[in-house]
Amino acid sequence: MEEIKIFAPATVANLSCGFDVLGCCLDNVGDEMLIRKNDLQEIRITKITGQELPLETDKNVAGVAVKALLNKLKRHQGFDIEIYKKIKSGSGIGSSAASSAGAVFAVNKLLGTPFTAQELIPFAMEGERLASGNAHADNVAPALLGGFSLVKSYEPLEILKLPAPAELRMVILHPRIEVNTRDSRGIIRQNISLQKAINQWGNLAAFISGLYTEDYNLLGRSLKDEIVEPVRSILIPYFDELRKISIQKGALGFGISGSGPSVFAMCRGQEKAEAVKKAIHEFYQEKEIEFDLHLSKIGNEGVKILK
Ligand code: HSE
Repeated sequence: MEEIKIFAPATVANLSCGFDVLGCCLDNVGDEMLIRKNDLQEIRITKITGQELPLETDKNVAGVAVKALLNKLKRHQGFDIEIYKKIKSGSGIGSSAASSAGAVFAVNKLLGTPFTAQELIPFAMEGERLASGNAHADNVAPALLGGFSLVKSYEPLEILKLPAPAELRMVILHPRIEVNTRDSRGIIRQNISLQKAINQWGNLAAFISGLYTEDYNLLGRSLKDEIVEPVRSILIPYFDELRKISIQKGALGFGISGSGPSVFAMCRGQEKAEAVKKAIHEFYQEKEIEFDLHLSKIGNEGVKILK
């Protein structure tokens, strides 16, 4: 195999109750990448469309992630990487994670699959370290594994794949203001009260239980965040109104996607999700902010081979 084309999915990290430990994969929102072997023993980012991003290998998340993988294998195979960005950087739906996860997935396939999807996660995390200064796994893990992922611990790295109830739908609004993950991590308080921690771990545990028991209402009731959301939501225009509209139209819950500015409304069933999407559209189109709006199932596969 000399060349592979893949779909690299967008992801929603944190999901309110699981800052830095919980995330899920979207099914129909993502980038495409074409990766082929070269004879130069060099990793080259040969093309990027859709976004202004660095072509220098060491400044590009895909380049850095692939280098980490090859270093581990002690291989000198070269690759040319073409990235067709559809996910906007700074949108909060895992743009850098899609490129990092997509690149290591593709290179792994072209090398005959020396690593499992789980084993690819640390390499993709190096891309996140470059992008945000922190090697968090809550976007790259669901991008590689599909469904929902839980980071049980960072040291040692232990990640669990969780089931995705079939009727779940995510409505994602991306107000086109750029929020840099590095900056939006910088504004979070480093210490929290015991009471807040108790509330948060109760919700996270209940959310995980809801995934296994397919208790949609419990999932919705668990989408709460007293720690990060109060600070980050200030950066998101009309956050409170969007939540109100989504819940009124029947969403199970609502929150910030990753580090924002995207927000998500989690819904049960396509019909409810369409109604929520329509209401958000009607509300936001009157504001003077450009936006993108998506409706997606949970992607169970993660990165997909296109050809
Ligand atoms: N958990 C990370 C954060 C996700 O919230 O900073 C970034 O997409």
